[in-house]
Amino acid sequence: MIQVLDKTFDVFLSAQQIQDRIVEMAAEIDREYRDKDLVFISVLNGSFMFASDLMKRITIPCEISFVKVSSYKGMNSSGRVDELIGLNTNIEDRDVIILEDIVDTGITMNKIYSYLDSFHPSSLKITSLLFKPDAFDGKHAPDQIGFSIPNDFVVGYGLDYNEKGRNLDAIYKLKETE
Ligand code: IMP
Ligand code: MG
Repeated sequence: MIQVLDKTFDVFLSAQQIQDRIVEMAAEIDREYRDKDLVFISVLNGSFMFASDLMKRITIPCEISFVKVSSYKGMNSSGRVDELIGLNTNIEDRDVIILEDIVDTGITMNKIYSYLDSFHPSSLKITSLLFKPDAFDGKHAPDQIGFSIPNDFVVGYGLDYNEKGRNLDAIYKLKETE
């Protein structure tokens, strides 16, 4: 059991379980992208740890670049505008894998996917460490999933609760009683 700010969390996926799954995922990517021009696009901040550990296990030639979804109060109906910043790599005619920490409702991925697709990559796939199928209502489900999880709030291994908890090497879920 751990405490992050005012909330209590229980271990959900151990550091070892995460690393074991990442080895399997990297082996799949190695096989499928052997003759491709692979570029990972890691979505900051949440996916930094996953991207780092996954990439260390990749043995074929590859590159990595980072994008960030910046949300700010805007003038649209929801009062929120999301802007994608940071893509400084040419992805046209290249084989892109988007790396996410979690796909929840899928709204964020809708934006990331259509933004990257507008640069005409030759292929565009999604790898997400976590996926919440019961919450998903988006257009682009992950092609490769580390773990499908219930609709509970999780923290650790890059995922935050009010920006805290990203440093944890395991993934924890909010204690039931709260
Ligand atoms: P989506 O747009 O609903 O798919 O999710 C967008 C973002 O919400 C993710 O990239 C995460 O940053 C955050 N998120 C969703 N579920 C969780 C969670 O359980 N813990 C921490 N962050 C989450
Ligand atoms: Mg994220």
